[in-house]
Amino acid sequence: WGLSKNSKQKQTNDGKDTNDEKECTQMIKAIKVRHNNVVAMMALGVQRLKKGMDLKIACENLHEIHQFLDRFYMSGLGIRMLQHVELHNPNPPHCVGCIHTKISPMEVARNASEDARAMCLREYGSSPDVNIYGDPTFTFPYEPAHLQLMVFELVRNSLRAVQERYMDSDKVAPPVRIIVADGIEDVTIKVSDEGGGIPRSGLPNIFTYLYSTAQNPLDEHSDLGTSEAVTMAGYLYGIPISRLYAWYFGDLQIISMEGYG
Ligand SMILES: Nc1ncnc2c1ncn2[C@@H]1O[C@H](COP(=O)(O)OP(=O)(O)OP(=O)(O)O)[C@@H](O)[C@H]1O
Ligand SMILES: [Mg+2]
Repeated sequence: WGLSKNSKQKQTNDGKDTNDEKECTQMIKAIKVRHNNVVAMMALGVQRLKKGMDLKIACENLHEIHQFLDRFYMSGLGIRMLQHVELHNPNPPHCVGCIHTKISPMEVARNASEDARAMCLREYGSSPDVNIYGDPTFTFPYEPAHLQLMVFELVRNSLRAVQERYMDSDKVAPPVRIIVADGIEDVTIKVSDEGGGIPRSGLPNIFTYLYSTAQNPLDEHSDLGTSEAVTMAGYLYGIPISRLYAWYFGDLQIISMEGYG
């Protein structure tokens, strides 16, 4: 994968005129499309690997695998972030390359939670509410797709935790809360839930590509090209991939209170 990608890029990268540039742009676009399913395919591979090994060994001793996957996915992310490609597209208003200069985190959070709730409804037949708090007029520059993905993954996890905790109980499921804060140095988006949290023994593993408490992990024969393959949990990469996205301009932190959320 890496080899064919790099060698082709090398052939076209030292563009001398606009035509060369356009050709290079087309090439990078084609690479992007060709590798649309790579993350899901890798997740299947990791799952097969996990089946054959003791989870304790897998999570504690396989740093190389995690480092490799971090680097592998990060390089894919790098291709996506290439401003070069986006600069050749007609830029919609407020966009510089792939960066949207006036993105509303409240709006992104709303869209991402609607998507996650729809998935939860489809899978469980009901879904906890998601309440979003913050200044609706606040905007900041960011890559919209990355923000959407990170919030979606976190809300998907929260909805699953709350839903599984409350689905057999008489109590009404408490809402997932998203708080958007505009600080002097940072923009922070906090997703919190009352889904019971992650036990302390699980915390060191949540950023690895092998940890999940999903009962029905991704089916090896599912069609990765369709949205049918997407379930509430089971790919094992929601948190680690979101952190890679976050590393581009910030960070992702998880704080758990076992027994609460
Ligand atoms: N908000 C949360 N509350 C409780 N447990 C959580 C929460 N978020 C994550 N977890 C735990 O961390 C594990 C790993 O989360 P991660 O998103 O990386 O993978 P996943 O949800 O199992 O699968 P997928 O890759 O499809 O998202 C989950 O299986 C779950 O046990
Ligand atoms: Mg998840």
